[in-house]
Amino acid sequence: MTPTLPACPRCFRSPVRAGARFCPRCGLADVARAAVDRAPVDVPVGGRVFRVLDRVAVGSVSAVYRCRFYDGPAEVEGVLKVARDARANDLLANEAATLRRLFAADPDHRFKPFLPFPEATFGMAGDDPSAADDRGGGPPRPTVPRQATVFRVHPEIRSPADELYTLADVRAAYLAGLDPRHAAWVWRRVLTVLGFAHATGVVHGAVLPPHVLVEPHGHRVVLVGWGCAAPAFGGRGVRAMAGSYNAWYRRERSAQGAPARDPGLFPLPSLDVALAARSMVELMGGDPLNLSVPATVDPAIARYFQRCAGFGPNARPDAGRLLADFDGLIHALWGPRQFVPLALPPKRRA
Ligand SMILES: Nc1ncnc2c1ncn2[C@@H]1O[C@H](COP(=O)(O)OP(=O)(O)O)[C@@H](O)[C@H]1O
Ligand SMILES: [Mg+2]
Repeated sequence: MTPTLPACPRCFRSPVRAGARFCPRCGLADVARAAVDRAPVDVPVGGRVFRVLDRVAVGSVSAVYRCRFYDGPAEVEGVLKVARDARANDLLANEAATLRRLFAADPDHRFKPFLPFPEATFGMAGDDPSAADDRGGGPPRPTVPRQATVFRVHPEIRSPADELYTLADVRAAYLAGLDPRHAAWVWRRVLTVLGFAHATGVVHGAVLPPHVLVEPHGHRVVLVGWGCAAPAFGGRGVRAMAGSYNAWYRRERSAQGAPARDPGLFPLPSLDVALAARSMVELMGGDPLNLSVPATVDPAIARYFQRCAGFGPNARPDAGRLLADFDGLIHALWGPRQFVPLALPPKRRA
């Protein structure tokens, strides 16, 4: 008997052969892997059903899946983020609560496009399929419900899983570094959302390349990864994210005068500004630690980002001031703003 081929997890209309790279129907990239990675699972929550599809990313504490649900008669695609281990439940709960607070502080929806909206939160029983890789196929651990959040984004982004790229993805596509004319629109939007969060009394705490998502055609930016967020100027509330960005946090810890082994950082708005600026320097092909940029980048741009992430009394002005300064700087360099399309290859599955 021939085994039934799995269906494309995006369009459900085409069977997927082993090794297929693109769905012949809808063009989903890396389709063979996406199809076997996750068969559709329907999760009923409070009278609604969330259909969980392929895994699209793995974050520092969660796995992220494409997810579909109905909003009235309209089908919406979002993402479902679920803690890989119940010990991270508090981070997901903090993220959802922080975002709810930010949405409540934005009655005119001016900043809504820049933030993922927590559509639903719930506990998920059962082991995370992605954790099987970490266990080397060992026996499943006892199951404690893991915190999950379904997010939706701006309706013009029909598929966040396919249309949003992290700055790390963009950097990987532009090995010599992204032209500052592209980086400019990303930076302006990052400062806009940070200005709003800081005015609301929230510090993100991890404005790093995996958390700044861009949609290249409409020049949209969505800031995700709010699990470490903390009330601005609170105690040492920001837990540094472990992993590849340790060195960035070490710089920030020393800028705050904290002992090297101190686990937390002060949730200062300037922490967000500095991490964001380091992310931009890296995006443009520079060194995020010493803030140097390639020779092709105008020295005035280099000085600007050094001021955002550097030390000293004139360094790290607030996001609003930095945005005004940046607009003045790019106008002087390039004249009136122009829409420059950004090309990116189809996304690869997590
Ligand atoms: N709303 C979203 N839309 C599309 N992709 C997302 C979204 N949120 C997260 N991701 C993807 O998942 C990855 C991990 O998300 P993140 O929120 O950082 O998880 P964690 O808290 O586990 O670190 C991101 O780097 C991004 O690739
Ligand atoms: Mg993260």
